[in-house]
Amino acid sequence: MRSSISLLCLLLLSLLLLSLLRESSDSTWKPFEDCLLKHQDPKFPLIYFRNLTSHRDPPFSSVLNAYVRNLRFNSSTALKPSIIITARHESHVKAAVICGATNKIQMKIRSGGHDYEGSSYRVDNNYTNPNVQFFILDMFNLRDIEINLTAKTARVQTGATLGELYYKIATTSQTLGFPAGTCPSVGVGGHIGGGGFGNMIRKYGLSSDNVVDAGIIVANGTLLNRTSMGEDLFWAIRGGGAASFGVVLSYTVKLVPVPEIVTTFKVVKTLEENVTNLAFKWQDVAPNITEDLFLKLNLDVENTEREGKTIRASFEGLFLGTCHRLVKILSDRFPELGLKESNCNEMSWAQSLVGIDKPIEALLSRSFSASYFKGKSDYVEKPISKVGFDGIWNKMIKLKDVKLYFYPYGGKMFTIPASETPFPHRDKILWKIQYGINWKKPDEEKASLDKSMEIYDYMAQFVSEDRRSFFPYRDHTLGININYTYEEGRKYGLKYFGDNFYRLVEIKSKVDAANFFKNEQSIPVKNRHGDFDELISLVTEKKGKRGRKLIV
Ligand SMILES: Cc1cc2nc3c(=O)[nH]c(=O)nc-3n(C[C@H](O)[C@H](O)[C@H](O)COP(=O)(O)OP(=O)(O)OC[C@H]3O[C@@H](n4cnc5c(N)ncnc54)[C@H](O)[C@@H]3O)c2cc1C
Ligand SMILES: *[C@@H]1O[C@H](CO)[C@@H](O)[C@H](O)[C@H]1NC(C)=O
Ligand SMILES: *[C@@H]1O[C@H](CO)[C@@H](O)[C@H](O)[C@H]1NC(C)=O
Ligand SMILES: *[C@@H]1O[C@H](CO)[C@@H](O)[C@H](O)[C@H]1NC(C)=O
Ligand SMILES: *[C@@H]1O[C@H](CO)[C@@H](O)[C@H](O)[C@H]1NC(C)=O
Ligand SMILES: *[C@@H]1O[C@H](CO)[C@@H](O)[C@H](O)[C@H]1NC(C)=O
Ligand SMILES: *[C@@H]1O[C@H](CO)[C@@H](O)[C@H](O)[C@H]1NC(C)=O
Ligand SMILES: *[C@@H]1O[C@H](CO)[C@@H](O)[C@H](O)[C@H]1NC(C)=O
Ligand SMILES: *[C@@H]1O[C@H](CO)[C@@H](O)[C@H](O)[C@H]1NC(C)=O
Ligand SMILES: *[C@@H]1O[C@H](CO)[C@@H](O)[C@H](O)[C@H]1NC(C)=O
Repeated sequence: MRSSISLLCLLLLSLLLLSLLRESSDSTWKPFEDCLLKHQDPKFPLIYFRNLTSHRDPPFSSVLNAYVRNLRFNSSTALKPSIIITARHESHVKAAVICGATNKIQMKIRSGGHDYEGSSYRVDNNYTNPNVQFFILDMFNLRDIEINLTAKTARVQTGATLGELYYKIATTSQTLGFPAGTCPSVGVGGHIGGGGFGNMIRKYGLSSDNVVDAGIIVANGTLLNRTSMGEDLFWAIRGGGAASFGVVLSYTVKLVPVPEIVTTFKVVKTLEENVTNLAFKWQDVAPNITEDLFLKLNLDVENTEREGKTIRASFEGLFLGTCHRLVKILSDRFPELGLKESNCNEMSWAQSLVGIDKPIEALLSRSFSASYFKGKSDYVEKPISKVGFDGIWNKMIKLKDVKLYFYPYGGKMFTIPASETPFPHRDKILWKIQYGINWKKPDEEKASLDKSMEIYDYMAQFVSEDRRSFFPYRDHTLGININYTYEEGRKYGLKYFGDNFYRLVEIKSKVDAANFFKNEQSIPVKNRHGDFDELISLVTEKKGKRGRKLIV
């Protein structure tokens, strides 16, 4: 009897505690919401959606899920934000930054939501404090694009997709393009800020190599352009991951010449059709041929009737010229591939981004069929031997579901010094490897992640010793911040940015010393923890001195 009473007491007590806890979690948000309202411009009312204990706005989950592009992070176990601000105006971004910083609440910035680790909309709860609360600043409504044909530039807001940018360029000019990724739904914000690449990388470099100006809102709520931010910060947000420095509102990019007719092509071979010899030769050719040609190699495991499990190699890509010229070039440099005119399709540059059988309006589609996905990357500095390739094929056949993508560098990439932008993987690099694995059901996650790690470990013998990695393929297994220390950040920072990491840290320490703009793989501040005290005291101090509000 007595024990059941004390059990009841315990139960009541814990219910009370739980409700207190809930209240206290909601009470975090009251001052934040008040602050948002205070900073909103009545002409442009600020819209946000809540999932608080006491109040849930019904559209919350559809707003959250609209830009979740990896089903791994659609599950209920992924930490959920409490508030999503859907910015429609510069003042909304300012309000989000100011209210987040002064209330010491973590903010995630989302443009297209394609981050491989969901870093723009979740907190990695496998490592961090499960009670952490955060909000999302969602940029998808900020998607204006202005083209200046005289200057051959486009000013594009970061919530636009690459497809929207491509479409706008293509419907303005037949002979201009922009070198960026091949997936039209990718967001401009994450892509350019992280140093994205596409089919024209060998001719024009990365998307971030073609930025001439930017508008960024920094931790004190000020909007800066290239002149007012200075060349250091402007350097950092072209490949160093802009989310460590501020919210980029727009990038102004240089458009590049493209011919009216380009050629896409594809030649598929199986192991039995000499893939080993072809891949061996590809290493010589693809990074060291005319920069008009981007010849990538996609590899996966096929189950054929005749041969059973085999490697399927697809040699494909883009040529900035006619099919006739391409065939001539390849029959000279790579006759073994046997590319024929029948393997080519000629079309406009915009068409090449949606494929021959779709209207270019498909570039505007924001729909995306997400799957469960994990990606990792490596860089190759010396050719792999034929025996080496045989080993890789055996490993792939054993693992079955892992796909390898080889993207050649060279061309323009060789000519840009490693310190020109934060992106360092240039002169010694022959090609980049992406390891990708997709799966269909949540319970296949562990086995799939293990496979991804197994191929990555196996490849150590063939790739750069320091395991340099491609930042836009964000990979939390390279290490993440728990305490936001310099030492933690160095682990992944050197892999993504090489020695440029140190300059990024210097810049970060100057423009965001209080580390408001942080995430699992953000650039750390020099030797201190990621608290907000410095910013708060800075704000109070200046407010006192000048007798007016520092921010806004
Ligand atoms: C299907 C698919 C195809 C891809 N294809 C390519 C490809 O061809 N080439 C390539 O290089 N990469 C490719 N990627 C990777 C892609 O470039 C990166 O994931 C990129 O960061 C996505 O940008 P986003 O705006 O869509 O992502 P988000 O998830 O919104 O953002 C990614 C990161 O950028 C930050 N961020 C976003 N917007 C801003 C902003 N306005 N200001 C400051 N920080 C911001 C976020 O906080 C987050 O840290 C692909 C990814 C996917 C899922
Ligand atoms: C809303 O919050 C509750 C409590 O934290 C959580 O269980 C739920 O999954 C959240 N819903 C969404 C759509 O994020
Ligand atoms: C993502 O999760 C939501 C519930 O949170 C669910 O309604 C939706 O169907 C899921 N999306 C997919 C593609 O499974
Ligand atoms: C989760 O984190 C632990 C270390 O804290 C690590 O051992 C484990 O592999 C991680 N799991 C996943 C799925 O990343
Ligand atoms: C376009 O660029 C030209 C040349 O740089 C400049 O003179 C002009 O003002 C720009 N036009 C607009 C509308 O910004
Ligand atoms: C950049 O901002 C400064 C200060 O706000 C302004 O004077 C200047 O005209 C801006 N430059 C451009 C190119 O917009
Ligand atoms: C495979 O390639 C090698 C070397 O390029 C060549 O000697 C051989 O004839 C090729 N075999 C087939 C079946 O094409
Ligand atoms: C590129 O090819 C040329 C011959 O066409 C060769 O002389 C040169 O050494 C090659 N360069 C590299 C980096 O492989
Ligand atoms: C993070 O900080 C906590 C508390 O100070 C400490 O126990 C933990 O070891 C630290 N973790 C790392 C990875 O530095
Ligand atoms: C805000 O921060 C930027 C960058 O650090 C600085 O240039 C600017 O002067 C600051 N503005 C105010 C009002 O303090």
